[in-house]
Amino acid sequence: MTQKIIDLRSDTVTKPTARMRAAMAEAEVGDDVFGEDPTVRALEEESAGLLGKEEGMFVASGTMANQIAVLSLCSRGQAAIVLEHSHLQRMERAGAAALMGVPFLPIATGSGVFNGAQLEASLSPVHPIQMPKLGLLCLENTYDLNRGLVVSPAEIDAMSVLGRQHHVPTFLDGARIFNAAVALGVPAATLTRSVDAAQFCLAKGLSSPVGSVLVGSRDFIAEARWMKQQLGGGWRQAGVIAAAGLVALKEMIPRLAEDHARARQLGLMLADVGLKVDESQIQTNIIRVELGPFGLDAETFVRRMAALGVLVKPIGPETVRMVLHREIEQGDLAAVVDAAAACSSD
Ligand SMILES: Cc1ncc(COP(=O)(O)O)c(C=O)c1O
Repeated sequence: MTQKIIDLRSDTVTKPTARMRAAMAEAEVGDDVFGEDPTVRALEEESAGLLGKEEGMFVASGTMANQIAVLSLCSRGQAAIVLEHSHLQRMERAGAAALMGVPFLPIATGSGVFNGAQLEASLSPVHPIQMPKLGLLCLENTYDLNRGLVVSPAEIDAMSVLGRQHHVPTFLDGARIFNAAVALGVPAATLTRSVDAAQFCLAKGLSSPVGSVLVGSRDFIAEARWMKQQLGGGWRQAGVIAAAGLVALKEMIPRLAEDHARARQLGLMLADVGLKVDESQIQTNIIRVELGPFGLDAETFVRRMAALGVLVKPIGPETVRMVLHREIEQGDLAAVVDAAAACSSD
């Protein structure tokens, strides 16, 4: 029997379910650049409804959704506020600066939340004439792809109010917004009620193979459609993948709670064998593990774990990330902990 590879690098490794594949095979399709793909339209409507916005637009990735949002909401030379550990700031090859001349003003926040004083400080009010004009506030929920922290509806509302005080819109990168919603026990729309636009990913914990949906007002989505086309994101019979997204929205959201419970459990088990895990930060499906107590660097740990059939992602010189998802079963947790313990004694 071949050994099961336990892949904890990301929830993006999840493969489509049998029902998704069946829906893909049967999907009604049309040319989406002409607005004629009924399955894409259905996914866009369903997504907009779930997040309480007027319209949605299906795109290839979370990165593309984020870029389109920034480019649609900012003009060249206007700055966007971003959070220090956000995907926009760290993982998108400075796309907004490169493609449109939108610089980022990062706010240092460990929690994904900032207050008015922090916002003012990042705008450098002493020399306003020399600062770029502010165009947009970008939030993230769950916050930090290496921790998956939950930001509450009240916190999002308060940051959106700061945006309105500065006369700028607020965009929420909700790549894992359903993880946040399930963790809080609230509808996802509660987390987007005060933001102008948001996106979420179908191809992470929801197990769909491809795609993200950007949502917002009718006017915003009209502008975003131009931008999608300009970036080469116009696609044709995309209904074959939208069909999987519809199954994901219907069937995969409640089960995210299982991933969260397993993440907490695995975090405690890893702490029991001597690894450093901050339990208060295991709020959804992501665990950040410090290897210091084992005296191992991340590269060595990752290599040794892989040899034992467990894949984890290095995120710092002595830190790795483990992400729980649909393909990690309860019985796998002990195998992960056994492998980790074995690494320390090699
Ligand atoms: C918070 C966040 N935003 C955006 C993205 C980008 O998604 P994609 O990989 O589909 O481009 C990710 C991916 O991990 C993410 O974690």
